[in-house]
Amino acid sequence: MTDILQELDQRRKAARLGGGAKRIEAQHAKGKLTARERIELLLDEDSFEEFDTFVTHRCIDFGMEENRPAGDGVVTGWGTINGRQVYVFSQDFTVLGGSVSATHAAKICKIMDMAMQNGAPVIGINDSGGARIQEGVDSLAGYGEVFQRNIMASGVVPQISLIMGPCAGGAVYSPAMTDFIFMVKDSSYMFVTGPDVVKTVTNEHVTAEELGGASTHTRKSSVADGAFDNDVEALAEVRRLVDFLPLNNRQKPPVRPFFDDVDRIEDSLDTLVPANPNQPYDMKELILKIADEGDFYEIQEDFAGNIITGFIRLEGQSVGVVANQPMVLAGVLDIDSARKAARFVRFCDAFEIPILTLVDVPGFLPGTGQEYRGVIKHGAKLLFAYGEATVPKVTVITRKAYGGAYVVMASKHLQADINYAWPTSEIAVMGAKGATEILYRSELDNPEKIARRTADYEERFANPFVAAERGFIDEVIQPRSTRRRVCKAFAALRSKQTQMPWKKHDNIPL
Ligand code: HXC
Repeated sequence: MTDILQELDQRRKAARLGGGAKRIEAQHAKGKLTARERIELLLDEDSFEEFDTFVTHRCIDFGMEENRPAGDGVVTGWGTINGRQVYVFSQDFTVLGGSVSATHAAKICKIMDMAMQNGAPVIGINDSGGARIQEGVDSLAGYGEVFQRNIMASGVVPQISLIMGPCAGGAVYSPAMTDFIFMVKDSSYMFVTGPDVVKTVTNEHVTAEELGGASTHTRKSSVADGAFDNDVEALAEVRRLVDFLPLNNRQKPPVRPFFDDVDRIEDSLDTLVPANPNQPYDMKELILKIADEGDFYEIQEDFAGNIITGFIRLEGQSVGVVANQPMVLAGVLDIDSARKAARFVRFCDAFEIPILTLVDVPGFLPGTGQEYRGVIKHGAKLLFAYGEATVPKVTVITRKAYGGAYVVMASKHLQADINYAWPTSEIAVMGAKGATEILYRSELDNPEKIARRTADYEERFANPFVAAERGFIDEVIQPRSTRRRVCKAFAALRSKQTQMPWKKHDNIPL
């Protein structure tokens, strides 16, 4: 009997060594942690329950029958993050380069199925040389099975991807279908075709880092939602993110203890908006002053800075924030910002996270660059996302809300629940100068007259009261009391229920 128990211990020990001490050393030399070290940092201490430790591949080609490491290059199982259950897979680059065989894929599928059944998030740690070359189509089939599960799980349980090494070829499409992708600077990359193929086909000379590193995907392509300096920081930040999210779409987000005053008055907000309407100010200051304890988890910080997206808590409850940022391109809506915000709004709606929208938007960005690339369709994404979102929606206009962008940014007309405006708001078809120049074109050669007309227009429309008179704004509020107002608004909406017409699914302009 003891022999059998010892054998189990020995087998476990061997499995835990992955590809062996030398390969672990090589992994560390690249600044990367091993698959198991990553899981240890991601999950609460001693909470990891491993699954399929002894699974091996069944390939007998290319001498593979002689090389059958336990676990087959991926560590899978479940554990907790701050006491809440999550499922995890972590590819082990020290075992056959973390390459994906049929059984490797089956291990991932198994925990994804359990996550769906039991309603808990899936966190995937990617560090893999891609399809196991010795297995051919069996490997591709394995990827296909994972992809299908990513699709089925979308909107049911949160899916988070960490890219902590290579992720290339068709393999990128599993993370691409998850809710969030985080990368590690200088040690991870994602691309559909690598630098060699790119050189052959397009004659572009580019390094792996330039083509698909963290900077590229957080700043240029927006494929990734965040980049971190090293594995440790990335794993800690994912723990922080999970705290904001519900475990599945049938649960409300977690309510955390909070140590902030709901009635906190912020006098400095009364002077946040400068007297000159063309002068920018930092919308992040408002977000931090509204949030419990000033805690804000930003998503896609380095992309489309003219819109800010991320999570805060109000009275301990998660709230998604979408805010125009006057500091970047005057907070204008364009293709990138509309896409970024639309995806965020849809995530929040899928997982019952209420949405706070802070508005200071001068309109849509003009130009052929935008029109040729389809700003009509991309802008519609945000409009559509807000209009179909049934979660509690609270909007605060701080300054400009012009034209179509006013309607898009969670206006009353898109069934936002509570719409506030600061006294500094200007809710109009456009700014006074532009409006006057159109209405009084024949007087353009008389600057005095035009100045008077502009002042008249400003007086009549550059305020929140016309909209408030019509009930499009529910209340004009003092900036300093925004936190209290917004907290009370969301508290009043906690049992919100709405009906949507029956449909198979919508046809959002993709
Ligand atoms: C089998 C692989 C492998 C793979 C790496 N290894 N990739 N084994 N299938 N895809 C093995 C290596 O043979 C090596 O084994 C060990 O993993 C470590 O690899 P190294 O090359 O020594 O590491 P490194 O120098 O860091 O380079 C990493 C790498 C490189 C850039 C990922 O290994 C590489 O280019 N691999 C092939 C990538 C590839 O073309 N994959 C298929 C992509 S197509 P030993 O025993 O020597 O240590 C694809 C399609 C998916 O993935 C489609 C989904 C629908």
